Amino acid sequence: MRLPDTVALVTGAGSGIGRAIALRFAAEGARVVAAGPTLAKVEETAGLVAEAGGEAVAVFCDVTDPAAVVAAVAAANSAFGPVSVLVNNAGGSFGDDILEIDPETWDRNFDLVLKSVYHCCRATLPAMIERRRGSIVNIASVNGMTGIGEEAYAAAKAGMINLTQNLAIKYGRFGVRANTVAPATIRTPIWDARLAERPTAFDDLARWYPLGRVGEPEEVAHAALFLASDEASWITGITLPVDGGLLAGSYRMNVDLSG
Ligand SMILES: NC(=O)c1ccc[n+]([C@@H]2O[C@H](COP(=O)([O-])OP(=O)(O)OC[C@H]3O[C@@H](n4cnc5c(N)ncnc54)[C@H](O)[C@@H]3O)[C@@H](O)[C@H]2O)c1
Repeated sequence: MRLPDTVALVTGAGSGIGRAIALRFAAEGARVVAAGPTLAKVEETAGLVAEAGGEAVAVFCDVTDPAAVVAAVAAANSAFGPVSVLVNNAGGSFGDDILEIDPETWDRNFDLVLKSVYHCCRATLPAMIERRRGSIVNIASVNGMTGIGEEAYAAAKAGMINLTQNLAIKYGRFGVRANTVAPATIRTPIWDARLAERPTAFDDLARWYPLGRVGEPEEVAHAALFLASDEASWITGITLPVDGGLLAGSYRMNVDLSG
């Protein structure tokens, strides 16, 4: 077991990457608190964990609401005890080009992607510091590391990466580590609307990846597991791309040049 004596709070655990993380962490011994804004979805995740022989509770949590975050952490505490692993996974992207995006939509991206991390860290860090034990894993995006579009979402994810670095340098001496996983295209429901418009989206996108395909949620969960676990005991403040080689270089340019 790679996560013994661990209480892991996973936000956005009702689907996609969050669900895969909940399942993977529970399989490694963590007691998982599956948090999300749609109780039925996180209950489904908790049910899947139980079916696989793990332990999980489902809690309502809208990460943009600080009171709801505090309540979710209190629920986690009464179910399993203090949270030792926090996975800030909840996310979503709204709008695109800055000439078109309205200020409210811009703020919506920042509230969901970045300010939520501030709320969740404030609610869980004190117990981690007190117990000298904590690992925070933030699910950012390659969009936060280079220009790909979705400007507000990308800027918020870039902010998440910087916030993670500051968490790492401030709380390392209290036994708390903080790291980021930066996925590229992963086959999850976040793509549903775009796939409805363009059913070949994943095949089209696969052409940009040196590994020739898009990623699966479990591949992000593996990286999150490593960073959450004691196997990463001397790793803090890093950003680990899980990106099929996207950020390694200009793959399409190389293909065009070499024919
Ligand atoms: N799938 C990809 O291609 C991809 C790539 C890079 C980064 N990411 C990031 O991975 C994370 C997970 O996304 P996913 O791909 O699994 O998509 P997803 O849509 O399946 O998951 C997003 C989750 O966030 C939850 N959520 C939305 N608003 C919330 C709120 N206010 N409070 C709490 N939870 C909320 C949703 O309920 C959902 O379960 C997101 O942060 C996303 O930005 C995804």
